[in-house]
Amino acid sequence: MCMSDSPVSVHTPGNDAPSEAPAAPDPAAQKQMEQAYAQMKRKMAMAEIGKQIKHKIMVLSGKGGVGKSTVSTGLALALAQQGHKVGILDIDITGPNVPKMMGLDGRKLHVEGGRIHPAQGHLGVKVISMAFLLEDEDTPVVWRGPIKLGAIQQFIGDVEWGILDYLIIDFPPGTSDEPLTVAQSLPDIDGMVIVTTPQEVALLDSRKSITFASSLKVPVLGVVENMSGYTIQGKGTPGSEVEIAAPAGRTLRATCDDEGRFSLTLDIFKEGGGRSTAEEFGVPFLGALPFDPGFVRGGDDGVHRIVSEPEGASASAFSHVVASIQSQLDGASSSSLEII
Ligand SMILES: Nc1ncnc2c1ncn2[C@@H]1O[C@H](COP(=O)(O)OP(=O)(O)OP(=O)(O)O)[C@@H](O)[C@H]1O
Ligand SMILES: [Mg+2]
Repeated sequence: MCMSDSPVSVHTPGNDAPSEAPAAPDPAAQKQMEQAYAQMKRKMAMAEIGKQIKHKIMVLSGKGGVGKSTVSTGLALALAQQGHKVGILDIDITGPNVPKMMGLDGRKLHVEGGRIHPAQGHLGVKVISMAFLLEDEDTPVVWRGPIKLGAIQQFIGDVEWGILDYLIIDFPPGTSDEPLTVAQSLPDIDGMVIVTTPQEVALLDSRKSITFASSLKVPVLGVVENMSGYTIQGKGTPGSEVEIAAPAGRTLRATCDDEGRFSLTLDIFKEGGGRSTAEEFGVPFLGALPFDPGFVRGGDDGVHRIVSEPEGASASAFSHVVASIQSQLDGASSSSLEII
């Protein structure tokens, strides 16, 4: 991937006499100049991008598979449903799956005038992902550190997002080089959303993410507890009691209402750990998202749960998380108001 269209040529000092043939440029110096020029252009582009995108939100977790991409795409779609202009930057180079979740499987990037143009998924959400560069989704990408980080910088600097209200940045798991590179490259990141599941091992890793955020000097917008509980709904005789055998030898009971309906929530991966971790570290708890098999189906079919069931329980849980984030962003912008 090389987007450089550098017009730079090397001038050799002390060789200005018109009668002498110009010295051949030193190829190493020429290359260095071109790289420096491309880097400078990219930095300027990043600064420009910083101005065009109102809010930039990173989505991280210490542990893999806890639902970062599901949360990133869900946040983007919930914000787009409110009428905002939204983009997602999928930084996961080894396992980029945002395009699949956004119904953009198999798309290729469109490059015009040396700039990369995002694909548009559901509700007009703009998507940039390494997946768009892969020839074959079954072949893993093996990029060593500097190449990978260079590609990320290029992806930040060379993309033509246009004006956006929100850019959601989805990361691979862990506190690795990727978030560091993004935090250093993209100015004015509003903050980090940390995704966890309620079980202890995931919580341990999410604690590391909170500490990592402070080392990056990026504010923590809060913790989202994903796969928080699985709600079973059913019908029985009005007023009767139903019983369900839950894990760990527990029994869950509910009473059917006047119309015979009942609902029981099974805490598959325990419950409440996200909130307690947030409280422990003094960061906001943004909300809990239910365990919903519709997310898995939606991920495979390319139609996110929020799009397939906009009035459902998962969509409303996402709205709650979005509202918590927005109240903080609004608070941050009003607290940083300066009267001159
Ligand atoms: N709330 C949920 N209910 C049910 N399944 C979910 C939920 N959230 C995510 N999943 C499923 O869990 C799997 C992992 O989710 P996802 O890819 O979003 O995680 P991730 O943290 O981005 O993973 P990785 O670390 O590999 O990037 C997917 O199959 C997804 O559909
Ligand atoms: Mg992911």
